Amino acid sequence: MDLIPRKLKDAAFAFLPGIVTEYYKKMWLRKFPDSKVYMNMPVPSKKFDIKIGKHSGSASIIKVYGGLNNYDLIKEKKRLKLHVGNHTAIGVDLMLVPTQNHTPEFVSTSLPISTKSIPMDMYYMNYREKYGDIIIGNDVWVGNEVMIRGPVTIGDGAIIGAKALVVKDVQPYEIVGGVPARHLGYRFDKKIINSLLRIAWWNWDMNNIEENIELFYEPSKFCSKFDKSYRSKR
Ligand SMILES: CC(C)(COP(=O)(O)OP(=O)(O)OC[C@H]1O[C@@H](n2cnc3c(N)ncnc32)[C@H](O)[C@@H]1OP(=O)(O)O)[C@@H](O)C(=O)NCCC(=O)NCCS
Repeated sequence: MDLIPRKLKDAAFAFLPGIVTEYYKKMWLRKFPDSKVYMNMPVPSKKFDIKIGKHSGSASIIKVYGGLNNYDLIKEKKRLKLHVGNHTAIGVDLMLVPTQNHTPEFVSTSLPISTKSIPMDMYYMNYREKYGDIIIGNDVWVGNEVMIRGPVTIGDGAIIGAKALVVKDVQPYEIVGGVPARHLGYRFDKKIINSLLRIAWWNWDMNNIEENIELFYEPSKFCSKFDKSYRSKR
C-alpha cells in the first residue's frame, strides 16, 4: 500500500503547479512592480542578469530552459542577460533558451552522457557550448507560442509572429515569423522608424502618453509633433 493515499497525491499534483506559479508571480511583482512579466524561476537568479522594463506583460509564465550546467558560465562567473524593455507585450507560452545544454558533437545527446562527467579540460579542448544573452527591446509584440534561442537581440518596435523560432537578431520595427523566423516586412517606412527610435516614447511617463494618446493612432502626425528632424525632412 502507498504511504501517501492516491487521492492525496493526485490532489497535490493538481494544485502544486498552480501554487508554484502563484509564488513565482508574487516574487516577480515584488521585484518588478511596474510590469507583469513572469518567468519560471524565483527572482533574483544567480544564473541570469534579469531586467524587466515598465508596463510590459506576459500572458503566461515565460519558460526559461538551459544555462543550469554551462561550464563557460560557471568558470567565467558570467550571468546571462535576460532583458525585456518597456511596453513590451508577450503572448502565451514564450520559451527562452539562452543555452543549448546538450552537446551535438559528442557520440550522444543523451543527458547523462552529454552533460555529466565531462572533465573540464576535455570540455574546453573539444567543445564550447553555444550560449548567449536574450535582449527583447521596447514596444515589442511577441505572438503566442514563440521560442527564442540566445544570443538574440530583438529591436524596439519589432513583431514576432505566432509560433516563430527566433535564432537571429531582429531589427527595430521588423516583423518576423516562421521556423526559423524570417523577415516578413517592416511596420513602417524608414523615415517613421528612425523618427520613432529618436522619440523613444516608451521612456515617457504614463501621464504624457495619456495626454497624447490620440496621436498614438496616427504615426505620421505623432512623428511630426514630437520629432523636429522628421518635420524638417517632410
Ligand atoms: C506576424 C503577424 C503580426 C502578421 O500579421 P499580418 O501583417 O496581418 O500578416 P498577413 O496575414 O497579411 O500575412 C503576411 C505574410 O506573412 C505570413 N505570416 C503571417 N503570420 C505569420 C506567422 N506567424 N509566421 C509565419 N508567417 C506568417 C503570411 O503567410 C503572409 O505571407 P505571404 O506574403 O507570403 O503570403 C500575425 O500573423 C501574427 O502572427 N500575429 C500574432 C498573433 C498572436 O499570437 N496573438 C496573440 C495575442 S498577444
